[in-house]
Amino acid sequence: MTNHYSRMVYASKATFKPFKAGDSIDKDVKDILTTARRENKKNNLVGALYYGNGCFFQCLEGNQQDIDQLYAKLEKDPRHHELKVLSLEPVEQRSFSSWEMKYATIDREVRAFLRTHQMGKFNPYRFSPEMTAELVGLLQQADENAGEFHEPTARQPENRGVSMTVFWLTNIISIIATAIITLWLVQA
Ligand SMILES: Cc1cc2nc3c(=O)[nH]c(=O)nc-3n(C[C@H](O)[C@H](O)[C@H](O)COP(=O)(O)O)c2cc1C
Repeated sequence: MTNHYSRMVYASKATFKPFKAGDSIDKDVKDILTTARRENKKNNLVGALYYGNGCFFQCLEGNQQDIDQLYAKLEKDPRHHELKVLSLEPVEQRSFSSWEMKYATIDREVRAFLRTHQMGKFNPYRFSPEMTAELVGLLQQADENAGEFHEPTARQPENRGVSMTVFWLTNIISIIATAIITLWLVQA
């Protein structure tokens, strides 16, 4: 028997106020992702979430029955409202297979996408089916690091550690070399 998957995309409006503390991710969104990742793993669902301008744009892939069950829960979740299904289609394969729920921090790409479509603010309720498909494509392409909670720059300290080691090693080698040359010159 072939395995049939569906892909559902919906939009909704967050009911909580955006909270921006530095560069970190919104606490409410973080909680949603933690639950989504835990539950989707159990329910064999995968997908991606984008959050911008107080709106969610979520793509869910899995068996239709599992998607329906989750959608029933989503409709009752007080953290968002005005859910609107933007697309529902059968797919051969799940494109987010390594993500229980990928969080796409693709604000720059979305801004360019909105410009192309002459849309001022991120408003998925006004997306055409083509725009919905295009944004799903952007979510699929999004950098893998974007799915983590931390910023992509979080690896910097590790890199700095490596360059400091190289710096000190170079210094020590040149000191030893200078000492050897000086000793050799003195003896000569
Ligand atoms: C925008 C948004 C996206 C969500 N995405 C998921 C998801 O992908 N998977 C999931 O299990 N729950 C998701 N949730 C949370 C569900 O609405 C629900 O709280 C969760 O499945 C636990 O439900 P339960 O306690 O009735 O089992 C999301 C909630 C919001 C507001």
